[in-house]
Amino acid sequence: MITGSTRLFGIVADPIAQVRTPEVLNAYFDKQGLDAVLVPLHIGAAQLAVAFDVFRALKNLGGFIVTVPHKTAAVDLCDEVSAAAREIGAVNTVRREPDGRLVGDMFDGRGFVAGLKAEGLDPAGRRALLVGAGGAAAAIAFALAEVGVGRLTIANRTRARAEELASRVSRFYPAIQVEAGDADPTSHDLIVNSTSLGMKTGDAMPFDTELLQPEQIVAEIIMKPEMTAMLRQATLRGCVVQAGRHMLDHQARLMGEFMTRVS
Ligand SMILES: NC(=O)c1ccc[n+]([C@@H]2O[C@H](COP(=O)([O-])OP(=O)(O)OC[C@H]3O[C@@H](n4cnc5c(N)ncnc54)[C@H](OP(=O)(O)O)[C@@H]3O)[C@@H](O)[C@H]2O)c1
Repeated sequence: MITGSTRLFGIVADPIAQVRTPEVLNAYFDKQGLDAVLVPLHIGAAQLAVAFDVFRALKNLGGFIVTVPHKTAAVDLCDEVSAAAREIGAVNTVRREPDGRLVGDMFDGRGFVAGLKAEGLDPAGRRALLVGAGGAAAAIAFALAEVGVGRLTIANRTRARAEELASRVSRFYPAIQVEAGDADPTSHDLIVNSTSLGMKTGDAMPFDTELLQPEQIVAEIIMKPEMTAMLRQATLRGCVVQAGRHMLDHQARLMGEFMTRVS
């Protein structure tokens, strides 16, 4: 029941109809016993700055999720962002403080790591191969470094993007060995597909799955289909596999906690 005292939350996107966050976050609020509701907010890029000003003025707004295509633009529109979100260059969750200030952070990568940990697959100390160097890959690379991955190799079709990401992560986490390399799973404990390959039938494999060994952990961030061709191949080769939905499920909890935290 929405009443006059219900706290308002939103998800900002363009297009909006495909977002799953309202179902997931409203279930989270219910579970926590919070008098809160999260609604879809369809806002185009040209009006994003105006919307942020309205959000500052909206006294019963607790916060909002930011997704495609606004994650990068949101960094400069917030009044404060975490150091990690600034390095990643994207914000996906914003909390409105009681004085109206908008504080942004990024949970894409942390959701991925939390999903692995929940399955007993803590990346700390493991040798990781991250295939891809786009937005999701950047968030995952920083989150893996944040929890102390043993070594991180970043491989991407456009090699320059992998090199650029590797140097940004190593500047921020100088103690972690990070380098751009080939998409060869050999000598890695954890292999992550963070490219968009696997969404469509007939997509190429993000790396040569014939090289996988039974003891390796193979994780996916594609959510549909749940079992991508890569995960099916990894399962056949005896690997421990992690599907993409875990990333979103765990991210939802982290985003809910961040938005409802009273500073
Ligand atoms: N599970 C979750 O919660 C979650 C969260 C965020 C995103 N995702 C999914 O993650 C995927 C990537 O999203 P993103 O935001 O990172 O996209 P993005 O910024 O556009 O990056 C796409 C990445 O895929 C690579 N790629 C695309 N087509 C390729 C091809 N034909 N061959 C080799 N590499 C190719 C790109 O390589 P180049 O640099 O060479 O172009 C780049 O590394 C999407 O499918 C998205 O749905 C899932």
